[in-house]
Amino acid sequence: MEMMKKGFTSPSYSSNALMAVAIIVALLVLMSSNMKTCSATTTTTTTKSSNTNFIRLCCASTTYPNLCFSSLSPYASSVGTNRTKLGIVALKVSLSATRNSSALLTKLSLKHDLTANETANIKDCVSEVGDAKDELKRSLAQMKDLGAPDFEFTISSIEAWVSAALTDDNTCLDGLDGFNGKVEKWIRKSVTLAARLTSNALAIIESITSNY
Ligand SMILES: *[C@@H]1O[C@H](CO)[C@@H](O)[C@H](O)[C@H]1NC(C)=O
Ligand SMILES: *[C@@H]1O[C@H](CO)[C@@H](O)[C@H](O)[C@H]1NC(C)=O
Ligand SMILES: *[C@@H]1O[C@H](CO)[C@@H](O)[C@H](O)[C@H]1NC(C)=O
Repeated sequence: MEMMKKGFTSPSYSSNALMAVAIIVALLVLMSSNMKTCSATTTTTTTKSSNTNFIRLCCASTTYPNLCFSSLSPYASSVGTNRTKLGIVALKVSLSATRNSSALLTKLSLKHDLTANETANIKDCVSEVGDAKDELKRSLAQMKDLGAPDFEFTISSIEAWVSAALTDDNTCLDGLDGFNGKVEKWIRKSVTLAARLTSNALAIIESITSNY
């Protein structure tokens, strides 16, 4: 009796254990397939940590992954696991930093205690960073058109505008080479942040493929 009972319960226990192992393995496979790339645009899990992980993974392929994650993770819940949404948020953050640089430059360009060279360089920066701001606004507006049939055309146009914005920021920074006054340090810090955020936005946008 005792033996039979044992003989009966023991296999059923081990098949439960097997079942549990199978479920865990299946979950791990599911999780790792979601975690390996940031390519998942649809997923059944919409937990806070999976959204945060999605941003971490998408940021891993950018040039400034830590800045990317710290600047975009506050938007994890609204982005979910949608790369188009992440691209839009990345562009908005980049535009915000560019607007801040532009405002700083405009203010500093009015300072009276600058040399003629400094004033000329800062004025160039005002116009370059101003252009970058317009280019980012245009690309942000075009993100809405990604659902249209000509996805490839729209995405390459967006990439061209973002890339132009990055070039403009870098042209401003190049013009400051050799100038190390207090004013140039402020400008360099601000425009470098804008340029890095723009570079990250470009990398994220380049990873968007058509889901339509
Ligand atoms: C991702 O977000 C975009 C922009 O909000 C939307 O048009 C698109 O349908 C979303 N894609 C998926 C797969 O949910
Ligand atoms: C731009 O400046 C505002 C106001 O100071 C600030 O809240 C915001 O975080 C800045 N944007 C970026 C991207 O640094
Ligand atoms: C400032 O401009 C003058 C004349 O264009 C030039 O000779 C000089 O090298 C410049 N100074 C710096 C620090 O670039």
